[in-house]
Amino acid sequence: MWGDPPERGDPIILPPCGSSASKPPALANVVAAQDIHLEYGGVVPELASRAHITLLPRVVQEALAASNTTIDQIDGIAVTLGPGLLGSLLVGIEFAKGLALARTLPWVGVNHVEAHLVSAGLESDLEAPYVGMVASGGHTEIYHVPEPGVFHRVGSTRDDAAGEAFDKIGKLMGLPYPAGPYLDKLAREGRSDAVPLPRARLKGDTLDLSMSGLLEKEPHPIPDARLKDIAASVEKAIVDVLVERLDQALDRYEARAVTVAGGCACNTLLREETTRLAAARGIPARFPSPKLCRDNGAMIAHAGSFALRRGERTPFDASAIANLDSFAPLSVTP
Ligand code: KG4
Ligand code: ZN
Repeated sequence: MWGDPPERGDPIILPPCGSSASKPPALANVVAAQDIHLEYGGVVPELASRAHITLLPRVVQEALAASNTTIDQIDGIAVTLGPGLLGSLLVGIEFAKGLALARTLPWVGVNHVEAHLVSAGLESDLEAPYVGMVASGGHTEIYHVPEPGVFHRVGSTRDDAAGEAFDKIGKLMGLPYPAGPYLDKLAREGRSDAVPLPRARLKGDTLDLSMSGLLEKEPHPIPDARLKDIAASVEKAIVDVLVERLDQALDRYEARAVTVAGGCACNTLLREETTRLAAARGIPARFPSPKLCRDNGAMIAHAGSFALRRGERTPFDASAIANLDSFAPLSVTP
């Protein structure tokens, strides 16, 4: 009934990016989508780690072939240390260690969220200091990046991630999983003031945010016109909460740019509103192109190449860190 998911970011016109001439080009970015999860309406951790075991060697070989590179030309290896699903992280980390040992190469473990925060730099200038938001199915966090390689988390969701909110409401609306791209497409033809929805406002001096209270029960089946209005209203409510916090973060922290990454950064309204917010402050808004908004190896390599150049090395006894809170306590603002 719903057809193929709309190409993420399809309707999006990217704001002008700065010169990309000075950017290290990504020679290849191979992503193996795991369609096995679709029938479950979410990622099944055990299936994901097993799929990593079979897909990973192939993906690395494909990336080498696509970039016309041999393993002898590689200077270092970057791998996601976390946060994420423990089993999948372990498969990736042990694979990377094996490769590093076999080829006597340096390797670095990368924080997945920090990689999202630098990902726009693969295609445009993104110079610190800046404020960044990562909004995906698993994360909604705001960071201040005062200088390269320094990431201060200044706000987080207290409950659902933005993508989770899109997906849960989309499920109530009868949309396929993940619902974000479908909801985005429907919203383009709906009225965002049609359905009054609350915006959760947290008390106190915080940049944390909440996605609660957005779900509303709708009698089924929902007529098409109503579906579009619900989509537009839900999208507006979620984006309002995100953009309000970005605005407040920009009030508090020195920033020469603002960036939004993660799957939800494909969202049309979020890109428009962030662009407007940045323009009002006379700074650029940087978004990765849709394929780099989603999880991808290029952003891990990008973050890892900075770390390797700074001389960072990860010891061989390092292992997966599934939880963001256990990751780098020092980078969390007290
Ligand atoms: O970063 P991502 O591909 O995977 C992880 O969650 O790690 O993000 C997926 C999330 C899903 O919740 C999906 O519904 C949401 O990003 N998403 C969108 C859009 N495209 C993807 N949400 C709103 N609008 C979109 N256009
Ligand atoms: Zn991610």
